[in-house]
Amino acid sequence: MDLSTTYLGLRLPHPFMPGASPLVDDLDMVKRLEDAGAAAIVMHSLFEEQITAEQLGTIQNMELHEDSYAEALSYFPKADEYALGPQQYLEQLRRIKATVAVPVIASLNGVTPTGWLQYARLIEQAGADALELNVYSLATDPADTAAAVETRLLAIARAVKAAVHIPVAVKLSPFFSAMAHVAHALDAAGVDGLVIFNRFYQPDIDIDALEAMPTLRLSDSSELLLRLRWLAIFAGRVRASLAVTGGVHSFVDAIKAVMAGAHAVQMVSALLQNGPEELRTVREEMVRWMEEREYASLEQMQGSMSLERCPDPAAFERANYMRVLQSWRG
Ligand SMILES: Cc1cc2nc3c(=O)[nH]c(=O)nc-3n(C[C@H](O)[C@H](O)[C@H](O)COP(=O)(O)O)c2cc1C
Repeated sequence: MDLSTTYLGLRLPHPFMPGASPLVDDLDMVKRLEDAGAAAIVMHSLFEEQITAEQLGTIQNMELHEDSYAEALSYFPKADEYALGPQQYLEQLRRIKATVAVPVIASLNGVTPTGWLQYARLIEQAGADALELNVYSLATDPADTAAAVETRLLAIARAVKAAVHIPVAVKLSPFFSAMAHVAHALDAAGVDGLVIFNRFYQPDIDIDALEAMPTLRLSDSSELLLRLRWLAIFAGRVRASLAVTGGVHSFVDAIKAVMAGAHAVQMVSALLQNGPEELRTVREEMVRWMEEREYASLEQMQGSMSLERCPDPAAFERANYMRVLQSWRG
């Protein structure tokens, strides 16, 4: 079965790869991922806050100018709580490159278009084949407009694109009021791929301790639906290639994502739960299903359920919405 696909201009034998996660901290695990057939290795993120802290001296030793700034800093993990500091991240990238033959995609994660982005070039120099850019932030300032949020995201993407020659993907949040505009603007800025979507980890509340508790809940397949919708809307309408992340737990999930238009399928929760070998299991089950239905290639299936030829996706979505509400009456 020909499962080959092109993601970020990289010709891959199939779309399955681990998404950004701590699995890459351990070289044995990286090897197991490659042995399970990972088409590429995506590293977890190096964070703007880590880089800025290193550039300014360690967080603990910093002179704190303002109370609000000091309080904001106290929210963040301390430097030694990150698995890898900025230099160690580059070193780990070099080690992974030396260990595996598949492409390695590094990840930068931050919110401002400032000096920390120079790490994009260092990551390229350390041998990354591509870079994923994750701008994970919540617009909580009432003075911050949707346009300003988009402008910042674009400025970061443009700065990274200008700094490196390797392909750049942007991992998007689903919380934009004009999602299609964001995708098209990134596309016009030359971004090579869109990774759909970031998961937001809403902290829970401990009602006795009166504390917000950051909780890590792994995903399940229900989270895929939001991704399928936007993949189907973007497919064929943006030049950038598309990766799905969030809620892929089975071969059925993967097939849906590919049919909606995904070129790459990233998995994290399923691998953390079942081990890296799950990548192979899901791929083999997909092949079996495709053979039974006489598909000859993945490309034959890719985008078959997208809304590329739908003249008015907004009307389609609204009609769907109304139909779903009516379905309750049976
Ligand atoms: C423990 C853990 C660590 C993660 N670290 C990162 C990270 O450093 N950067 C990033 O962009 N995403 C990170 N993610 C998000 C995943 O890459 C992925 O987008 C998310 O888990 C949804 O995919 P899933 O449903 O397959 O788990 C992390 C997820 C988990 C569970």
